This record gives sequence, structure tokens and C-alpha cells, in this order.
Amino acid sequence: MADNKLRLCVLICLISIISSSSLIPSATTYVSSNIPDPFGKLSSSFYETRCPGALQIIKAAITSAVENDRRLGASLLRLHFHDCFVQGCDASVLLKDTPDFKGEQNARPNANSLRGYEIVEAVKALLEIRCPQVVSCADILAVAARDSVVALGGPFWLVPLGRRDSKTANLNAANSDLPSPFLDLKGLIDAFYKKGFSAEEMVALSGAHTIGKSKCAVYRSRIYNESNIDSDYKISLQATCPNIGNDNYLSPLDTTTPDTFDNGFYKALLYNKGLLHSDQQLYNGGYGSTDKQVSDYANNVALLGLDFANAMIKMGNLSPLTGNQGEIRKYCSNVNKV
Ligand code: HEM
Repeated sequence: MADNKLRLCVLICLISIISSSSLIPSATTYVSSNIPDPFGKLSSSFYETRCPGALQIIKAAITSAVENDRRLGASLLRLHFHDCFVQGCDASVLLKDTPDFKGEQNARPNANSLRGYEIVEAVKALLEIRCPQVVSCADILAVAARDSVVALGGPFWLVPLGRRDSKTANLNAANSDLPSPFLDLKGLIDAFYKKGFSAEEMVALSGAHTIGKSKCAVYRSRIYNESNIDSDYKISLQATCPNIGNDNYLSPLDTTTPDTFDNGFYKALLYNKGLLHSDQQLYNGGYGSTDKQVSDYANNVALLGLDFANAMIKMGNLSPLTGNQGEIRKYCSNVNKV
């Protein structure tokens, strides 16, 4: 409760600081227009004429929020992934349940786990002041993911833009299409293949686990039942994640540099220090089909940066709504009222 109040207070401060800054000349400078993209294609210059300054507004808000709470950067990156893997990058993940609408937020991989909704809504509110109903929530998610990675020391990439927001969500697809942390390597490869990704791209995208945290309930079976785990690492995790209880206790996915986007995650895998069962599946003692790629990333952070950025651009291209499809929401958590 106190945590929520603090977060709200930080967001309100953030909005007032940024609103009063020169980033937003005046509420009337850029007139509202729900201009559809005539070509139905994404382009990194999409908002240059439609809402100049939009990307700077997002960047300023995200950078300051991530400085305040480094984990938020990880949470925003994950939000974009969980959006794109379920009916495409259309901000469906942001729609809240209502008495007559079931969204994706209570799907098994999302409930009590996804974070960052409030900051996305706060950024949307800033953009609504600047250019009402022009910048989509789906695009905010894509840019916020990139800006988060950059704020945590990772690679920069140009984000193709022009996605529109869905009027629907898909709870069943969220339950079936997001990969489970209990999958073996083949299951992981299959889950990404279904979305058009190669095994190599799956390994590169998994670099996202160089930041952020996971709950004891998710990694418990690994630290009590598996043998491909470093024994000191296992013992230290067992101290805070007992066989029963403390389900919500959080441990970093990258035990070495949890708040920095680097190659620490892959280095840890070489020493059997992957937190999730699925993460350690990427490296199997030198004998697995993805092992070489893991050691290449562990030895070459620039290669990881390049592959990760390219795979993120590809992920951001998953079935976007463009042109006249969908809508530009006024609030990210609800479809527009007709
Ligand atoms: C390869 C298959 C993947 C599986 C099985 C998986 C599973 C998970 C699980 C179980 C968690 C912890 C959730 C919790 O304990 O509440 C997590 C966290 C996270 N995942 Fe993944 N994930 C995968 C791929 C990805 C991808 C492709 C991205 C982004 C591009 C991503 C980004 C993240 C981030 C940043 C976190 C930390 C979030 C935070 O601290 O709030 N994951 N993932």
C-alpha cells in the first residue's frame, strides 16, 4: 500500500516536472489528429511530423523513472515482449479487466508478475497533453522498452513506429503463447518458432534476462530438484527461497550484474548459474545446440548488443495494427468509449 502511494507520488512528480519542462511547448501547439498511416507500414520517423518531440518525452520520462527504480527498466522490456507475443504488438496487454471484459493481465505468466503499467499510463498522459490521440500505447511500449535498455547500459536501436492499439485482448493466447520457465530447450525453440523466430534469435532475445528479477515460486523447483546448478549458488538461493513459503521473494535473473544490460547473464550460464530452468537450458555443459552462441555472447558483448537489437526490431514487428486498423487509445488501460 505504502509502496503504491510512493509510486503514485513519484509518477505525479514526474508528470509535473516533465510537463513544466521545455519538452512540451504548450497543449495547443500540436493539434489533435488521429492521422492513419496511409501505407500501413512502420517507420522510425512516423511521429516526426505527427507529434514532434514525442520520442524525447518518452525518453525523459523513462530515463528518470528507471534511474529511480532500475528494475522498472526490466519490467518495461518484459511488457513489450508479453504484448508482442500475444496477438501482436498492439498494447492488448495494457487493457485492464472490467466486469464485461477479460484482458490478459490475469493470464498465468502475467498475474502478480508484470509491472510497469502505471509509468506507461503516466507517459501516455504526457503525450495526450502534447498531441491528443496521436501516439499509440503500442508504440509507447516499444520505445519505452528500447529506452529502458539504453538507460541500463544496453544497445540503442531505431524503433520502427506507427503501430495502433487493439480494441481486444486474448486471455487464452496469453496463457498458451508466452513461453513457460519450465520448458526444455526444444520447447523454447518451438515457442519462438511459432512466432517466426529462429533458435538463434530466441537465444539473443533471452539476453533480456541480464536485467530484472524472478519470484521464488518460479525458480523453486530448479534449486531443489535440478543437478545442473552451481552448488554455492543453489545454497544461497535456498536460504531465502524455502521449500514451502516466501513464494514472492525476488532474486536477480543475472546474479552478477542484475541492474546492467550486459552479457553477465550468458557468463553466468557457463557456470550453471542460470536462475530459471529455461535459462539454463540455453547452455548444457558445452554439448547443447545453443551452447556455442551462449559462449560467443559471454565473450563478446558487442555481438550480443547487435543481435539483441535486431531481434527486438523483429519482435516489435509482430502483427502490428496499422493504417485504419484498431484505434489510438486515450488511456492505455481502456479501449476508447464510443
Ligand atoms: C525464452 C523464453 C522466456 C521465458 C521462459 C521467460 C520467463 C520469464 C519469467 C518466468 C520471468 C520471471 C517472472 C516472475 O518471477 O514473476 C521473467 C522475467 C523477465 N523476462 Fe522473461 N522469459 C523469456 C523470454 C524473455 C524475453 C524474450 C524477454 C524480452 C525481450 C524477457 C524479458 C524479461 C525481463 C526483463 C524479466 C524481468 C522482469 C522484472 O524484473 O520485472 N523474457 N521471464
